[in-house]
Amino acid sequence: MTRISLTVDGAKVADDVEPRMLLVQYLRERLGKTGTVIGCDTSNCGACTVHLDGTSVKSCNVLAVQADGSEVTTIEGLAATTGNGELHPVQEAFRECHGLQCGFCTPGMIMQSVDLLKENPHPSEEEIRLGLEGNLCRCTGYHNIVRAVQHAAGAEA
Ligand code: FES
Ligand code: FES
Repeated sequence: MTRISLTVDGAKVADDVEPRMLLVQYLRERLGKTGTVIGCDTSNCGACTVHLDGTSVKSCNVLAVQADGSEVTTIEGLAATTGNGELHPVQEAFRECHGLQCGFCTPGMIMQSVDLLKENPHPSEEEIRLGLEGNLCRCTGYHNIVRAVQHAAGAEA
């Protein structure tokens, strides 16, 4: 077992974990953060996306021990980062633009979109599609997801 300490959604946590434990398993199974979901076993779908020190990562692709000393934000802590008790603007945009159907991909889509807009606050449609290419959605056909990101960026959508 290896001792890790990190901050998750603003709370400090410390735990003994097996070195092979994935960050997504740690978040879900130890911390009960089931808002972060597992959609594949091939690092393909992006449903497990969280922010590690402010940058989006697929948490099934990161070991829990690699997050030692880091700050992790999941979909469950995203709204709190606004500091005003409201949904994050990207969450709000997904709601407004119906950027989801079953919602399974949505936590990862939103976390990836937040990172995308941080890097490029005014992306073109092509840049949005490129930025989200690591996140798969089986329901929406992506159109409303792209609209939601455009909406969050303040573009007409
Ligand atoms: S569960 Fe992580 S990429 Fe699919
Ligand atoms: S809304 Fe169902 S997988 Fe994207």
